Amino acid sequence: MLSTLSVLPPDPILGLAATCRADTNPDKIDLTVGIYMDENGICPVFEAVQMAQRALIAEEVTKAYLPAAGDQMFLDQMKGLVFGDELVGDGQHITAIQTPGGCGAIRIASEVLAEASPDATVWVSNPTWPVHIPLLGSVGLKFATYRYYDPASHGVDFEVMVDDLKGARAGDIVLLHGCCHNPSGADLTLDQWSAIADLAESQGFTVLIDLAYLGMGKDLEVDAAGLRLMASRLGEVIVAASCSKNLGLYRERTGTALFFGRNSQTAAATQSHGLGAARRVYSMPPAHGALLAGRVLSDPELRASWEAELAGICARMNLLRNTFSERLTARTDRDFAFISRENGMFSFLGLSVEQAQSLRASRGLYMLDSSRINVAALNDHNMDLVVEAVASVL
Ligand code: LMR
Repeated sequence: MLSTLSVLPPDPILGLAATCRADTNPDKIDLTVGIYMDENGICPVFEAVQMAQRALIAEEVTKAYLPAAGDQMFLDQMKGLVFGDELVGDGQHITAIQTPGGCGAIRIASEVLAEASPDATVWVSNPTWPVHIPLLGSVGLKFATYRYYDPASHGVDFEVMVDDLKGARAGDIVLLHGCCHNPSGADLTLDQWSAIADLAESQGFTVLIDLAYLGMGKDLEVDAAGLRLMASRLGEVIVAASCSKNLGLYRERTGTALFFGRNSQTAAATQSHGLGAARRVYSMPPAHGALLAGRVLSDPELRASWEAELAGICARMNLLRNTFSERLTARTDRDFAFISRENGMFSFLGLSVEQAQSLRASRGLYMLDSSRINVAALNDHNMDLVVEAVASVL
């Protein structure tokens, strides 16, 4: 039977990272996958996570399954981290399900949404993270795109975004990036979030928010402001939160599907559908990352250490953005100031596919075909090489 299969094209992000790993060029530079790298090119384990891990290993007495919804401490902490204490209140109106990473959260959310609104169209930004389509599409949902990023101005073209979203109907789902838009780094202002909330109110669509970079744009509060505005204005919002980047738990696959609803009855029904979906797909979530995150977020000392380290990472990424945009602008005849205005790990350099591919072949500089780079992989050792390489194709 398997001989009927043909080889699929490689994943546009992970496939390229694999090609880079296999490249024997000693000067290669990998700006593909969104992983935070420190000045030495290492993806560090947060100090607070290391401390939590030592304590967990000393105390752990079982590897029995977690409950299907996940670890309660972790889930309670994630509700507070994402929505803030005021919106959480007694928490009875929020369903939280621990998932294998942010991808797992999007999958569980899409399973629940497809059961709630089988004919829904999911509206995704153009461009968006390429995995959104297969993840949400795997439950049979249909897609439409709304225009978002304008390559000419290197920013959000909000007018055309709103024009397109006027086509979203009651029962449809609009996918927004909570902060640090992937792949563009161009985010909505709070006024723009508010205008989308107006549209959702008048047209009756549901907002699903991919929150993979909380705390990596400006800070934990500012980055959550848009989604909190949505929750308080609409009374219903779904969030897929990841702990991969902001807690550095990439390989531990730690995420949460959060359904902010109107009351505990809706929450109970949502929970039953979410757990049914989890049972069909993977049964119980992996424990290790969530147990670490739950400790870090609930222990005041670990929490303070984590918040300080995350703030330092965020500040360093913004410094990298400033330095890189200044050096590129000085070295070429283009204005790269937009890089310092954007948020999070990613920006487009505005190169053609041919230019991106030629940099790979001639310089061992790996970025996506779209010219998306992972800003967080730049450092003092490689930045000038990247600047020179980019200048060479302009
Ligand atoms: C990325 O966009 O590089 C990250 O979100 C990692 C991934 O899974 O694609």
